[in-house]
Amino acid sequence: MFDIHCHILPCVDDGSGSFTDSLEMAEIAARSGIRGIVATPHCNMPGVFENFWSADFDAKVKQLNDILQSRNIPITVYPGQEVFAYGDIIERIKNNELITLNNSRYLLVEFDFSVSEREMLKYLQMITAQGYVPIVAHPERYLIFGETPEMIRDIRSAGALVQVNSGSVTGNFGYYPERAASYFLANQLADFVASDAHSQYSRTPDLFPVHEIICENYSYEYADLLLDKNPQKVVNNKEIR
Ligand SMILES: [Fe+2]
Repeated sequence: MFDIHCHILPCVDDGSGSFTDSLEMAEIAARSGIRGIVATPHCNMPGVFENFWSADFDAKVKQLNDILQSRNIPITVYPGQEVFAYGDIIERIKNNELITLNNSRYLLVEFDFSVSEREMLKYLQMITAQGYVPIVAHPERYLIFGETPEMIRDIRSAGALVQVNSGSVTGNFGYYPERAASYFLANQLADFVASDAHSQYSRTPDLFPVHEIICENYSYEYADLLLDKNPQKVVNNKEIR
């Protein structure tokens, strides 16, 4: 499996707090069957987590990979960001302040939890107009989809792909996210399931349980698509739809 949304890079946001934490997160991921993780720190959140791309960022990804290799943990960490939809993100991409997932065509985007559909569509169109493919991070957690999950079809029609959090499927985020996630999965309206892991204790990168749930409730093929095939296509910059 490949995890395209994980806060495994240490000391950059509210995820891993040290290389030791990152190592423990990677061990959990490896045990659950994950071979690749895209490190996606929060970024472009004014005054909270800016995390615009820098040479230090690449150095940290390399350092983490070196540590994993030296400990024989069979996982590769790739560069990425979870970009908060705010301001002129296209200008920031052009200025190399924002990066896509493993420098592919795919940009992981998160929104304010109370975002309106109109505002979301505005950003998605801005991104697709430049030839990038937006992946909406955990839409099942946003109020509009908690209330009206079928609105996800408008988001997909706008050219975006849908990433559901493992914790929403397992019920860790409560009733509405679980209900919306179930609707997306039952109607094959999700493209990825990722951990959005923040630590080795809660919200961990263990994707094995969600793989089991999707196999049991939907199909092995869909679990494989959401957790392995599509995420690998992102890492390798291959077309998905
Ligand atoms: Fe996240």
